[in-house]
Amino acid sequence: MLDVTAAAALPAASLSLVPASPQAAQLLAAAEALSPDIAAGRAVDARTLRAAMVAACGGSDAEGAWTWKDGYEACEAAQLLFLRRFGPAMRQRPRAAQLAMLAKLATLLPSQTRRSEESQALQQFSTPIGLGLIASVAAGVTPTDLVLEPSAGTGLLAIFAELAGATLVLNELAETRADLLAQLFPATSVTRHDAAFIDDHLDAGLRPTVVLMNPPFSAAAHVDGRVAEAALRHIGSALARLAEGGRLVAITGANLSPEAPRWRDGFARLQERGTVVFSAAIDGSVYARHGTTTETRLTVIDRVPAAAPTALPTSHGMAPDLATLLGWIEQDVPPRQAVAATFSSAVPGPRKAASPVLRRARPVARSLAPTSADAVRLAYETCDWGRRRAAGSAPASTSPTRCNRFGSRRLGRTRRRWCSPPPWPRSRHLAQATSPTYPPAWSDGACCPTPSSRR
Ligand SMILES: C[S@@+](CC[C@H](N)C(=O)[O-])C[C@H]1O[C@@H](n2cnc3c(N)ncnc32)[C@H](O)[C@@H]1O
Repeated sequence: MLDVTAAAALPAASLSLVPASPQAAQLLAAAEALSPDIAAGRAVDARTLRAAMVAACGGSDAEGAWTWKDGYEACEAAQLLFLRRFGPAMRQRPRAAQLAMLAKLATLLPSQTRRSEESQALQQFSTPIGLGLIASVAAGVTPTDLVLEPSAGTGLLAIFAELAGATLVLNELAETRADLLAQLFPATSVTRHDAAFIDDHLDAGLRPTVVLMNPPFSAAAHVDGRVAEAALRHIGSALARLAEGGRLVAITGANLSPEAPRWRDGFARLQERGTVVFSAAIDGSVYARHGTTTETRLTVIDRVPAAAPTALPTSHGMAPDLATLLGWIEQDVPPRQAVAATFSSAVPGPRKAASPVLRRARPVARSLAPTSADAVRLAYETCDWGRRRAAGSAPASTSPTRCNRFGSRRLGRTRRRWCSPPPWPRSRHLAQATSPTYPPAWSDGACCPTPSSRR
């Protein structure tokens, strides 16, 4: 049996099956260099960030070795690494305490005051982590979900689906961000499609049960200038791909409201496929650290055709802060519908390494910490599917099996959640083998959960 704590001690980069793009590897190295500061609760100021970037990139920004936008990407990657490591402990606390911790984490990183041409053109304002948590709560993500993030950026929204134990499908158009995502989620294949047409591009068999998305609000690939309906296009295509009964949660500009006369027809068309069950605007201050104060909106759509597509729900007003938004969601978002589809065998794995200098993934187990209260661990045994595939064995769906059992007990029945080969590559949960503890610096107050705390 595998020693999970030993596996957890491996740095994320060493688990990668994907040869790093040089720039993504530098950003990840800078993120790892910032990690001790964040774990110690120390703010990363411009000097600290510059030092980490110079060390990772082998030169200064003045010499053209990196830009401040790169530095911000490294900071977001550092946030993600922190969440992966300490998120399991955070999730044991009440949600209000989780939000407080995320607020503290966000303030440790510099505000993003500088932009690049690409960040402007593709509207790369990453999802603030508090809002990412709330979106995942609204989606009701569970370990049985297949979650699509069609414009995944640096993964700050997707990480909450991972923490909930879901399987991920990630897409991102921008090259550097997609390369960085591939490094941060080494067991997940990252596609690079134009997500305005994600339904046309993904493998036919992929049926996500949840979509978490924060698309560009008014930018379209290869189009100069503003495209007002950009976000609605992204939502429409993602909704078309969602499994019947699945749930889509979108963060958009505040103006994309079901009540706005301009968007009524668009929402009515969406409602032929899905039902808008919640919509609320959010004050612009929530995005301030990401370099904008644009007001935003969180919309929840269940993939169940609306009884009367032109009847649109009344949205909430403007949530002044994330705590208010969370309260509204906990109170007003209905439970999820039953999902018809299950996982597809087409869940993409990591890109195959072409390079002989590939670092081999060590066999490692799925996280042993049950993520739902009624889950119970049955038995545990590992096998290295990645190695078998690499050796040219039969496709996963037809390979002879050894079981990796992790059962759940519901309503008194015990069922095996999956018996091999699992529908995703063997190394899917490499990154989740983490220790559910906090660094001491974070255990000093009401917002800072301790390992012994339970909800
Ligand atoms: C508002 S950000 C959200 C990022 C992400 N949710 C995160 O947490 O980092 C929008 C993202 O969409 C990407 N993007 C822009 N246009 C796109 C397109 N047509 N298809 C896919 N991704 C796109 C941007 O590069 C950016 O990373």
